[in-house]
Amino acid sequence: MAAKWTPESWRTHEGIQMPEYRDSGALAATEESLRSYPPLVFAGEARSLMDDLADVAEGRAFLLQGGDCAESFAEFHPNNIRDTFRVILQMAVVLTFSGKVPVVKVGRMAGQFAKPRSAPTEKQGDAELPSYRGDIINGIEFDADVREPDPQRMIRAYSQAAATLNLLRAFSSGGYANLKKVNAWTHDFMGRSEWAKKYKQTADRISEALEFMEACGITPETVPQIKGTSFYTSHEALLLPYEQALTRQDSLTGQWYDTSAHFLWIGDRTRFEGSAHVEFLRGIGNPIGMKCGPSLEPDALMGLLDTLNPDRIPGRITLISRFGHDKIEEGLPPLVRAVQQEGHPVVWSCDPMHGNVIKSESGYKTRPFERILAEVKGFFAVHRAEGSRAGGIHCEMTGQNVTECTGGAVAVTDAGLADRYHTHCDPRLNAAQSLELAFLLSEMLNQEHAERSREAA
Ligand code: PEP
Ligand code: CO
Repeated sequence: MAAKWTPESWRTHEGIQMPEYRDSGALAATEESLRSYPPLVFAGEARSLMDDLADVAEGRAFLLQGGDCAESFAEFHPNNIRDTFRVILQMAVVLTFSGKVPVVKVGRMAGQFAKPRSAPTEKQGDAELPSYRGDIINGIEFDADVREPDPQRMIRAYSQAAATLNLLRAFSSGGYANLKKVNAWTHDFMGRSEWAKKYKQTADRISEALEFMEACGITPETVPQIKGTSFYTSHEALLLPYEQALTRQDSLTGQWYDTSAHFLWIGDRTRFEGSAHVEFLRGIGNPIGMKCGPSLEPDALMGLLDTLNPDRIPGRITLISRFGHDKIEEGLPPLVRAVQQEGHPVVWSCDPMHGNVIKSESGYKTRPFERILAEVKGFFAVHRAEGSRAGGIHCEMTGQNVTECTGGAVAVTDAGLADRYHTHCDPRLNAAQSLELAFLLSEMLNQEHAERSREAA
């Protein structure tokens, strides 16, 4: 029997990757303010996402989760939110149309501020300062005052998340996401690239199909799914004082929900038995994710699944594997087999980003597009071989025309990384690379679909 859970029971567990605030009084005051603020999402919405993810677990839908590695105060701008939202819409349309599956859309947006770091401090020359841990904790500038963790930043992060979510809700249901606008969701800078052309062909075919359906009486007025879309938010639940302050009891069910986002995940560094992060997440009713990297043993995974999903609710757990292109085919099968043997219902999603970081010759942290693609291919191959479902993809991407990952049809070169390298943390796919990935993914989904139909025949 597990000990009693409360929103603060994580405080007696091993909490790593969280800042130590110098002024505990200021921290307590901030937490109190946050506790009095409105929730950002509702329990009912989190439950709808759980139902959608249950469909993914059973192979009836595909999960697309993407956005910034780290949102920042500096990049907070309506155009940035719009551009990321529309590239996710474009990817979803490609996957739905070409891959023939409904797509559950989840942004790494409206709250993805806190970052785990590999070292607690950063050295520059003779100076050593605390590492940057995301704008909700400290600032990126290499300056002693700016690097000092400041609880007030949580208030600013909350208000940025609220404004971002408000715009996302308006885009999803206020007309922008109407499928009849599929031709307008393009980005000017993508110009006449191969993938932009391919997207236009897809969009034209969808428009034609919509005209046909309209003639049959199926219109945005009669079928609301054409008029708008569901869009959910997510982030790593890392900064637990913030997450706790936004955790509220649902009046309908009595269950606790973390209302900072619809979906929260545990990072690869904090997902060990007994961790404060596992303790916190086990008690909330939201659907949750867990990153699974090369150091995770099957037995440990089974223990974590029993802790996090003792009632084995489908859609509750998404396992996000992030092995690296050269490790996935060896590392993932033992985990998949253990999960199958125990009969735990999970969504398997692929993060092809975090296992494929290299330092380029020009000194930038980058991810070669070929390696990202190779990990996705490996992911599909493993699930195909094990008879499980390749359920989703988890990407760091942006709607901006950045140069952070090398390769792809737009061919960002090593030397070109310096042109528009803007990320606050890890390198993201740009809009063209994201769209290219969606087309390649839809081919993989199509192939899987064809193989399953052949087997069933
Ligand atoms: C992330 O998703 O930004 C991250 C830090 O991932 P991981 O926990 O898998 O390293
Ligand atoms: Co990252």
